[in-house]
This record gives sequence, structure tokens and C-alpha cells, in this order.
Amino acid sequence: MNVTLREEIYELAKEWVLEAGKTIREKINDPLTINTKSDRNDLVTTMDRDTEYFFMTHIKKTYPDHFIISEEGYGDELQSLDGTVWIIDPIDGTMNFVHQKRNFAISVGIYHDGIGEIGLIYDVMAGKLYSAKRGEGAFINKTPLPLLSEQKSLYDSILGLNHFWLCENRLVEESAIQRLVKTVRGTRTFGSAALEFAYVAEGIIDGYMTMGLAPWDIAAGIVIVNETGGVTTDAFGAELSLLGKSSVLTCNPAIQEQIINDYMKKGRK
Ligand code: IPD
Ligand code: CA
Ligand code: CA
Ligand code: CA
Repeated sequence: MNVTLREEIYELAKEWVLEAGKTIREKINDPLTINTKSDRNDLVTTMDRDTEYFFMTHIKKTYPDHFIISEEGYGDELQSLDGTVWIIDPIDGTMNFVHQKRNFAISVGIYHDGIGEIGLIYDVMAGKLYSAKRGEGAFINKTPLPLLSEQKSLYDSILGLNHFWLCENRLVEESAIQRLVKTVRGTRTFGSAALEFAYVAEGIIDGYMTMGLAPWDIAAGIVIVNETGGVTTDAFGAELSLLGKSSVLTCNPAIQEQIINDYMKKGRK
């Protein structure tokens, strides 16, 4: 992607993300219409839909030849990542949005011919924008994020893990995850995949592993984590596709092999 065009797209995407965030903040105490999707805990609100609609209308008006992959139905049905594709989660962490009114994010990843060029993750209530352009480093607001420490051991690591890993599941023996949980310094569950990616990039957690994420949960995060030297694959080390769901491990490269080889591959069902 041409650098001048990328700069223009980045500035506009940032402006729209900040504007969408401002609208959400202004309406945070308004009554919500909450619906469920696949099950009673899979929530969606009018704010999720309205925010996605806002992005879709702005993108299609400004860049009619760009494509969109997004959660709430306003995107395109794509079979490939050819061209410029905006991968959008209007609210990542809807459960937090509904129950806590904080700890949720807007996530926008922009890819060109399958390559992640721009990542924006906006922690709306904290007013923190995590951003990155490929090859130009990552930032929180205007502050550059340092590269992740190469000296990390698994024993000193904090991992973002969803507790479903400890329940009966079809991917890996629960005992393997129990061993992992006992090995690391601590575990955390934040309830927003995008924010967990951002925290890995920031180095305040050292990895985040989860069972089933969609492209919009991870597209921006991958670009931002890459820019601080982190790595992202599925939970068994395979390359990720942004056209479907998969397990995800994003982490400091110093602990990646150990997690995959000693815990995930060994415990694989
Ligand atoms: C969810 C959040 C959550 C993760 C789920 C996602 P949503 O996204 O990122 O942390 O565990 O797998 O679906 O539905 O709130 O956008
Ligand atoms: Ca959802
Ligand atoms: Ca999400
Ligand atoms: Ca969402």
C-alpha cells in the first residue's frame, strides 16, 4: 500500500474511531436495548449496531472500493483478503459494556492484500488509543510503546486466559492448561480480546490465549502486537486466517515456543 494513501486512511480511521468513542461515552448512561444472539450470554446492543453502521457508511462513502469484515452484519461477505479490507469490531467486550460500562474497545484493523497495515484499538472509557502502522511502531495515544523484553521467562509471565480452558473442551486436555496455570506467575481475564492484545503489546501481560476468536477480535491487535515485537498464531503455532474463527495465542516471542510445545501440543486432544 502506498505510504501517502496509508497515512490518509490512518488519519481518517483514527478520526472516526475517536468520534465513535465520543458518541459511546456521551450515551453511556442512556437506556440500552439488549438482545441475544447464539445464546443468552452472547449479547448485542443497539450501540454495537449503530457504531458499526457509522463506520460502514463513512468507509463506503469515502472509499467505495474498500471492503469490510465486521461482526454485526453491515460488512461484506468476503472469500479473500484481496484489496483493502477494514476488519471492524464496533464494540469488543459487549458484556463489559453492558455490565460494567467500561473495559470495552473499538477495534479496527486495515489490511491490504492480506497484509496488516493499520491497527487501532480504542479503550473508550479510559480514553486510550492503541495504534500502529506496519513498520512504524506502536503507540498509546502519542506515546511510543517500547519493544517487548527479550528476557521473559514463562515463570515470570502473566497470561490472559479465559476460564473455559479449564472446562471440558475439544482442543486440549484440561490438565495441560492446569499445568500451565501453575507454571506462570499469574493469570488474568479481561473480557475484551482487543484489549488483551493491546496489553500484550504494552507488555503489561506477556501473552493471551483463547479458544475461538473471529477476525474482528484480532485484526487490529495483530498489527499492534507485531509492532512491539510480539507474535500471533493459533494456540498450536499454526498461521492464522482472517477469514474464519480459530484459537489464538498472542505473546512475547520469548515464551511462545514453550507454551506451544510443552503445554498445547503435548495436551492436544
Ligand atoms: C468477545 C470478547 C471476549 C472474548 C469473546 C469475544 P464481543 O467479543 O472479545 O473477551 O472472550 O470470544 O467474542 O462479542 O464482546 O465483541
Ligand atoms: Ca459479540
Ligand atoms: Ca469481539
Ligand atoms: Ca463486538
